[in-house]
Amino acid sequence: MNNGVEADQHTTRAEPVTENTNAARRWQKYAQISGWGMYVPHQVVPNERFVELGLDTSNEWIATRTGIERRRIVGEHESTSDMAVRAAKEALRVADVHPNELDLILIATCTPDHIMPATASLVQDRLGAKNAGAMDVNAACAGFVYALNTGTSYIESGRARKVLVVGADELSIHLDWKDRSTCVLFGDGAGAVVLNAADEPGVMATTMGSDGSGAGLLTIKAGSRNRQNGHRHKNGKNGATPVSSDYYLRMNGPQIFRWATQKMAKAAEKVITSSGLSPAQVDLFIPHQANMRIMETTARRLGLPIEKVFSNVRDYGNTSAASIPIALCEAVQSGRVKVGDNLVLASFGAGLTWAALAMRWGVAVDQHVSRWKPIGRGVEERMAVVRSASRRLGWSVRTQIDKRFRKENGDNGKGK
Ligand code: ACO
Repeated sequence: MNNGVEADQHTTRAEPVTENTNAARRWQKYAQISGWGMYVPHQVVPNERFVELGLDTSNEWIATRTGIERRRIVGEHESTSDMAVRAAKEALRVADVHPNELDLILIATCTPDHIMPATASLVQDRLGAKNAGAMDVNAACAGFVYALNTGTSYIESGRARKVLVVGADELSIHLDWKDRSTCVLFGDGAGAVVLNAADEPGVMATTMGSDGSGAGLLTIKAGSRNRQNGHRHKNGKNGATPVSSDYYLRMNGPQIFRWATQKMAKAAEKVITSSGLSPAQVDLFIPHQANMRIMETTARRLGLPIEKVFSNVRDYGNTSAASIPIALCEAVQSGRVKVGDNLVLASFGAGLTWAALAMRWGVAVDQHVSRWKPIGRGVEERMAVVRSASRRLGWSVRTQIDKRFRKENGDNGKGK
């Protein structure tokens, strides 16, 4: 707490994990990541493109001040849910989990396809995850760790055994491509993990917090991608005139920078201590990929050597809620994570929000052979499409029948 302006919710399995606590908690499960996947759009935008667009910037300025060299940007017909579905399918494949086994789907995003319904429901339908609840989590760039904390709580409380957690964002549709202080920073993408109930940790400690007094430092005031008179807003990228500048992401970069270096370090420190670790026992630190200098300063504050910090901001820029799961996925795929490693994730974002999580990695990456074979998977995916289409048809037929019935009974909708 900070003079009542800051709410810091600290949810943690506070005690260090020992033989005794494991025995005492035998009835209770830990949340463990058993699958991971990522998707980034095909379109690569290198720093030089901003100079070509006429911005007063340079590759050198962007690369040295942020560490970013390129980013991926969605195509005209690609949405947050499209990216989320691709990352999710990969995570399910790696975890060898069938969509029907999922109890809950959490999508961390601040760029949903629509304000309503939740993007999580669209993803649930396209995966054919017919037994899963679905909801979005919006904590901006901190959203994925918030969602991971939420999924962990469902598993630890016994209310869920398998949870899909996705971070997906397309902030490019909210960028003012004439504002050099913001448009060079962000990219699009999605990352996903499957959380399983397990007898061993797993997630050891989590923390999350918010300080809404800083809400004005980073905003997109207007609504969703389809807000402008029912048409997708072209945000100036394709030459169209923006209807409202409220649609753009606006940010006080230097203020966020200073705040983020302090907050991310404090949050990480908290989960390291709560899980009974010392900084020296942290094998890999995966911070939010916003700016290389923020990550370096945070690592210095934590006393972690830079070799223990995973970064791919060079290739993707800041992908908002997708940044940590994409980084986690690449860290695992590149052999940086082994069974028994202690990982710390830490993020910050608009809100202001922050979150961190400490976990012990429990899955052997190379022993992961899926029994859900590609042919079976292809059939299942087609069945999900057919099932979704037939259910849509069902809704449409019922609506028509209902309309006709009301007409025949003289119900004009006013009297009842
Ligand atoms: N190219 C060239 N010059 C630039 C650019 C650019 N792309 N952008 C800003 N400048 C200029 C500024 O106009 C300023 O010029 P001036 O001195 O003539 O006024 C100068 O460079 C220095 O600007 P600063 O803003 O002080 O530069 P700084 O070193 O702070 O870097 C940056 C700016 C990169 C935005 C940094 O502040 C930052 O990374 N902040 C954190 C942002 C962030 O992480 N946001 C994401 C939050 S997560 C979420 O929820 C989405």
